[in-house]
Amino acid sequence: MGKRESKIIKSISEVNQMNILITGGAGYIASHLTKQLLEDSTYNITILDNLSTGYIDTITTLKSIRDFEFVDMDLKEFDKISNFLKSSNFDIIFHFGAYILVEESISNPLKYYMNNTVNTTNLINCAINSGVKKFVFSSTATLYGDVENIPKDGLNEDLPTNPINPYGTSKLMSEQVLIDSAKANSDFRFVIFRYFNVAGADIYYNENGELSPRFGQRLKNATHLIKVASQSALGIRDKMAIFGDDYDTIDGSGVRDYIHVDDLASAHIKAIDYLDNISNPSDIFNIGYGKGFSVKEVISTMKSVSGVDFRVDMEGRRDGDPAILIANNSKIKAKMSWQPKYDDLELICKSAYEWERSR
Ligand code: UFG
Repeated sequence: MGKRESKIIKSISEVNQMNILITGGAGYIASHLTKQLLEDSTYNITILDNLSTGYIDTITTLKSIRDFEFVDMDLKEFDKISNFLKSSNFDIIFHFGAYILVEESISNPLKYYMNNTVNTTNLINCAINSGVKKFVFSSTATLYGDVENIPKDGLNEDLPTNPINPYGTSKLMSEQVLIDSAKANSDFRFVIFRYFNVAGADIYYNENGELSPRFGQRLKNATHLIKVASQSALGIRDKMAIFGDDYDTIDGSGVRDYIHVDDLASAHIKAIDYLDNISNPSDIFNIGYGKGFSVKEVISTMKSVSGVDFRVDMEGRRDGDPAILIANNSKIKAKMSWQPKYDDLELICKSAYEWERSR
């Protein structure tokens, strides 16, 4: 191939590159999405993060896969966000930057409303004003609350929402902002993902064939069951507790639909294709595996993959916890052809454990 031809091919591929902004990209879920996106050179990636809960070395590790732009900016800096978006040319925004702890949202609701709702509203406004046409929003199954008559095939997107904690409400309000904004701006479309319980870490095998995650949940005050259980197995915590064994579930403990973070990330890539097809409407998708495990089952799986019989106490129910959250995932499977690869509680626990062990 002559120099001129290769130049033309290069400029065609540059033209076809999709400019992607990922907010909160130094965080847990977004780093797994970024890792997957970096493997495809047609994506031109920018991460915006204020490093309040994310880490700069996550960015460094991601950059070792392929270089990209990192912008250290806080979503609450409205003028900066507006100028930044106006001076960029993003085709799509993945908005992950948010606080995620249910308990903390009860004790400090304004922290959640300010960041998860107010800053998100500003981001949506700036996106529309600067001509961004596609928006993917990280929402949560928490906003279904305590569902009285749980459908046999899990929670579907048409069920009424009824968040029982400020975290869920902060996300629900942002969903509404998106829905109304898209109604009023016909060329702005969105995908909302309602995540069920995201867990596990980067499925990556080192040169010796050992599971050796490069990314994982690093939140310092994380209260998530699988993280807490892996820390207990490693002796980072001397014990853990089961919050409530009087729920109406198989063994009395709470039931959740645990989805591996890499499967959740791959759904976001499906959302790019979905929104690329102009005839696909803005829509909401639940994302989970469609089956639930109790707290007791998760703890027993962690004990078995780690080989450690760590101490577990019984405590009363935790405020803001629904009894059961299991997804009906037929919509995302049908409309985005999403297929999970790691639907395996042992692998979820093992990858979380190996990640924690490597810290
Ligand atoms: N649990 C314990 N002991 C612990 C931690 C948790 O018994 O030390 C129990 C909880 O009571 C609950 C289950 O384990 O029954 C799962 O709790 P997590 O804290 O792991 O997760 P949550 O279901 O409270 O919330 C998580 C995320 C939210 C998300 C939600 C979606 O934190 O961001 O899943 O279902 F919205």
